[in-house]
Amino acid sequence: MSPGRSTEHGKVWLVGAGPGAADLLTLRASRALAAADLVLYDALVDEAALGLAPRAAKFSVGKRAGRASVAQDTIHALLVRAARAGKRVVRLKCGDPFVLGRGGEEALALAEAGVAVEVVPGVSSAIAGPGAAGIPVTLRGVSSGVLVLTAVPEDACLKVLTAQDPSVVTCVLLMALGGRARIAAHLLERGFRTDVPAAVVLGATTARAWSWIGTLGELGGVTLPPDRDDLPGLVVLGDVVAAAAPIRAALGVEPAFTLGYHDLAEVHLGSA
Ligand SMILES: C[S@@+](CC[C@H](N)C(=O)[O-])C[C@H]1O[C@@H](n2cnc3c(N)ncnc32)[C@H](O)[C@@H]1O
Repeated sequence: MSPGRSTEHGKVWLVGAGPGAADLLTLRASRALAAADLVLYDALVDEAALGLAPRAAKFSVGKRAGRASVAQDTIHALLVRAARAGKRVVRLKCGDPFVLGRGGEEALALAEAGVAVEVVPGVSSAIAGPGAAGIPVTLRGVSSGVLVLTAVPEDACLKVLTAQDPSVVTCVLLMALGGRARIAAHLLERGFRTDVPAAVVLGATTARAWSWIGTLGELGGVTLPPDRDDLPGLVVLGDVVAAAAPIRAALGVEPAFTLGYHDLAEVHLGSA
């Protein structure tokens, strides 16, 4: 058997479902879903995406913070077994399958098992989440790059984050809602300015999206809307958050800016 091929011609598609809204799923993803016999999907995948796989048996294997889930090794075994039985399997993950979603581990397990695999990239919440809230993750003269980090485990995240300069690089933190107060306190203790612009974006691209902008000094104390505690969220740190104020205003995203931000945005955009 040649590497990357299963004996029964089954195959696994590692598919990105995009950040939330079902119409941000790619055409290639919808074709893979339409042809699938089996879909194993994550918790953050929109129900509407599952409707694109009418022929398939569908099982949730996802986890949300603090809740039980199917073990990663079990997911690998299910994927390998189904492909070896000749099934067309879609492993549907939120955002992009290779951005902090264990898609890389799954691809490695499938490669090791000699199962044919294809990657269908998706729109990652790390870029599209801030974007949908009107925050470009890079902006000439304001931010020359973006760092995407998971806040779990927190100590590794803090080590990397402490070495950054948010007036040069935008930092997007996934899985950081629960730890936001600790992260903010740690950075402030290490000398970060309290007025580093910060944002929280919940449920980006969905009808229930919510966002807040403020400063690193305020991040720990921000109260998230209790009616949206089921939504995934991310934190953005960096001067782009302030510079984005006119974009947010133009998009009608509230709050467009808080006191003092408009001036800062004008300074940045003017010098870009
Ligand atoms: C396990 S990671 C997977 C990331 C995914 N592979 C991607 O590329 O977007 C899940 C985290 O992504 C972020 N996330 C996913 N969808 C989101 C959304 N619609 N709005 C804000 N954050 C989101 C949250 O930080 C959530 O805890």
